[in-house]
Amino acid sequence: MPRKVTVRAPANIAFVKYWGARDLDKAIPYQQSISMTLSVCHSICTAEYDPLARTDEVWWLRDDAEPRKPPEAFARGIVDQLDRLREFADLKGAFRVATKNSFPSGTGLASSASGFAALTMAATSAMGLDLQGWELSALARSSGAGSAARSVFGGYVEWPASDSDDRCFARVIAGRDHWDLRDVIAVVEITEKRVSSREGHARAVSSPYFATRQELVFDRLAQVRAAIIGCSIAALGPVLEEEAIDLHVMALTSRPPIFYWKPATLSVLSAVRDLRDAGLAAYATLDAGANVHVICPPEDEPRVAEHLEAVPGVAYLIRDRVGNGPDTRARDLF
Ligand code: PMV
Repeated sequence: MPRKVTVRAPANIAFVKYWGARDLDKAIPYQQSISMTLSVCHSICTAEYDPLARTDEVWWLRDDAEPRKPPEAFARGIVDQLDRLREFADLKGAFRVATKNSFPSGTGLASSASGFAALTMAATSAMGLDLQGWELSALARSSGAGSAARSVFGGYVEWPASDSDDRCFARVIAGRDHWDLRDVIAVVEITEKRVSSREGHARAVSSPYFATRQELVFDRLAQVRAAIIGCSIAALGPVLEEEAIDLHVMALTSRPPIFYWKPATLSVLSAVRDLRDAGLAAYATLDAGANVHVICPPEDEPRVAEHLEAVPGVAYLIRDRVGNGPDTRARDLF
């Protein structure tokens, strides 16, 4: 009997970034990273497992349009992950999979993190496996989109670096209710970035700044962890901005260089400084893309949003917040 499961998994925004991998295929990072799980930005995946079928079927839903066949590389990534999950479960059946994002894909908003977390959780459950969080995290990471390891949990999550494949999984530092932080995302780019994160990780070590940032990151991890435990935006903010800038310094100085920013990215970063000058606790971070996440406490969110909406080049805002992690409450996609 085929069995169908639907999982909604959130994206996450890294406060301390994963950039550069010891093993790119398995996404084994050089250093630890820390993120906040989001809520509004999410992926939904429905996976149906049929033990008697032998060919996988992958569908892609965009907006409210009819389901369609995804681009070849996208479908390949999904089938490769299904192969890993089948091998883990020692099963031979096939899947019908449909997937959908609530936000633009491939624009530095962590669609691969939410997408592979949702796929991993839906597919393993459809095969009848009942896995622990750490097992799901390690399996999501093995997709190659390492930040998916953090998206299987809610709240504030750290992903320690470990050389060992089965010990390299994320864990929760604090749950969603520990600290209500908001993330006003200024979307300045909706077309897919030219250089994938995977390629960025591969080039990271060619940056002369890579080794310096490796030295800086240990203190930053301790500062961010302490800021989360102590719910201190004043302690968190400056470190998360340093980390975001350093990620892009490494990208810009890798060989060949990678330019993720757009002109409007700089306008938003400048607007965030204006907001701070006006006394608001707003701090900017970016993953590997042009779109800017502005982290702030709930009382500052309305003024942050009002100001950012008016910045030339901002297409629209996504008003997100720390979230509770994946759930199975979404409607089946087929
Ligand atoms: O998980 P990947 O391979 O998509 O890489 C994520 C890289 C960053 O988003 C830039 C940083 C991070 O830790 O999420």
